[in-house]
Amino acid sequence: MTGPANPKAEVPVLSVQDLEVVFPSTDGDVQAVRGVSWDIYEGEVLAIAGESGSGKSVSVMAALGLLPPSAQVSGSISYRGQDVTAMADKELEKLRGSAISMVFQDPMTSLNPVMAVGAQIAEGVRVHQRTKTAIARSKAVELLHLVGIPNASQRVDSYPHELSGGMRQRAMIAMAIANDPDLLIADEPTTALDVTIQAQVLDVLERAREAAGSALVVITHDLGVVARTAHRLLVMYAGRIAETGMADNVFERPAHPYTAGLLGAIPRLDATKGTRLMPIDGTPPSMLAPPPGCAFAPRCPRATEICSQETPELRPIGNQLTACHHAEDQYGEAEDV
Ligand SMILES: Nc1ncnc2c1ncn2[C@@H]1O[C@H](COP(=O)(O)OP(=O)(O)OP(=O)(O)O)[C@@H](O)[C@H]1O
Ligand code: SF4
Ligand SMILES: [Mg+2]
Repeated sequence: MTGPANPKAEVPVLSVQDLEVVFPSTDGDVQAVRGVSWDIYEGEVLAIAGESGSGKSVSVMAALGLLPPSAQVSGSISYRGQDVTAMADKELEKLRGSAISMVFQDPMTSLNPVMAVGAQIAEGVRVHQRTKTAIARSKAVELLHLVGIPNASQRVDSYPHELSGGMRQRAMIAMAIANDPDLLIADEPTTALDVTIQAQVLDVLERAREAAGSALVVITHDLGVVARTAHRLLVMYAGRIAETGMADNVFERPAHPYTAGLLGAIPRLDATKGTRLMPIDGTPPSMLAPPPGCAFAPRCPRATEICSQETPELRPIGNQLTACHHAEDQYGEAEDV
C-alpha cells in the first residue's frame, strides 16, 4: 500500500489486516468480508466505496467490535499499535466513547427524540470530560456553530424533529466530534440528503476533522461524494478489495474495471472530479455462495476465461493496488485517453 498522506505519521491510527467476517445462517454462511486490509493514518481521510452489500459497514463494525456475537470475525485490528481484539469489553467501550466516534446513516436512530439536541451534545461532553453543565452547554453551542447550524445559541434548545434532515445530520456530527475523537467514522452520512446538502455535510465533516485533528473514514456508495475530500480510497466488491491507493491516483487512472465502471466516465481529472457513481448493469453476487474466481466476472466487459477460474490477487499496478487479471489493459487504456 502507498505510504501515509502525512509523512510524519508512522503508526496508523487504525490498522485492519486480513479481516474475514462470516455470518452463519440457516441457508449457509454469509461471507460478508473476505480478507480485507487497510490502514488509516493521522490527519487522513479514507473513503470506503462500493455498492450495497459489498461489506463496507461490516468491515468497519468488525473493527470496532460492534457486530452481533453470532458473527465470526478473524484477522487483526489495531488502534495506534494496540490489539483491539485483545481488549476487554470495558476498554473497548471507552475507546469507542472517546477516541473513536461514529456518525451513522440515519440521525434519527442516534438522536434521542425527546431531548433537545444541545442537551444531548452537552451530556456527551460532560460524561467524557467531567465538565460543569454550563460549560458543556456553551461547548454544545460552539459545536453547533462549527457544523454550520445558524443561530446556534437558540437552536441548542431545539428537539430533533424541529430540525431539517441536513441539520440533524450536522447535529450528529457535532455530537460525534464533541470529545475531540482521534478517529471519526461516518457510515453513509449523506445518502438521505439531496446533492447540495450532501456536499455541505461532507464539508462540515472535513472541517470537523480538521478542528478535532482526527482521521476520518467515510463510507459511501457514491464516489462523487468523496472525490474532493478523500486522500485514500478503498473500493470494495463482494467482500473483497477491488482496488485501493491514494485517491487522486485511483480517480485519475483506475486500473480495475469495477472502479472505472463506478466512475462511469473516461478517467480524466477534469471529468472525474465531482463525477457521480453511475449504475453498472447487473447486480453483485449473493454472499451465501460467492462464485469462484473474480466475483465481478458476470458483469465485467473485460472478463475472459481465467477470470471465472482464478481469484485475482491484489497487486501493484501503477501507483495503486488492484485485484484484476487484466488490470494492465484497463490502466493502459486510461493513459491513452
Ligand atoms: N447482522 C448480519 N447478519 C447476517 N448478515 C449480515 C449482517 N450484517 C450484514 N450482513 C450481510 O453482510 C453483507 C455485507 O453487508 P454490509 O452491511 O457491510 O454492506 P454495505 O457495503 O455496508 O452495504 P450498504 O451500502 O447497503 O450499507 C451483506 O450481504 C449483508 O446482507
Ligand atoms: S479479473 Fe476479469 S472479471 Fe475481474 S475485473 Fe478483472 S477483467 Fe473483470
Ligand atoms: Mg452499509
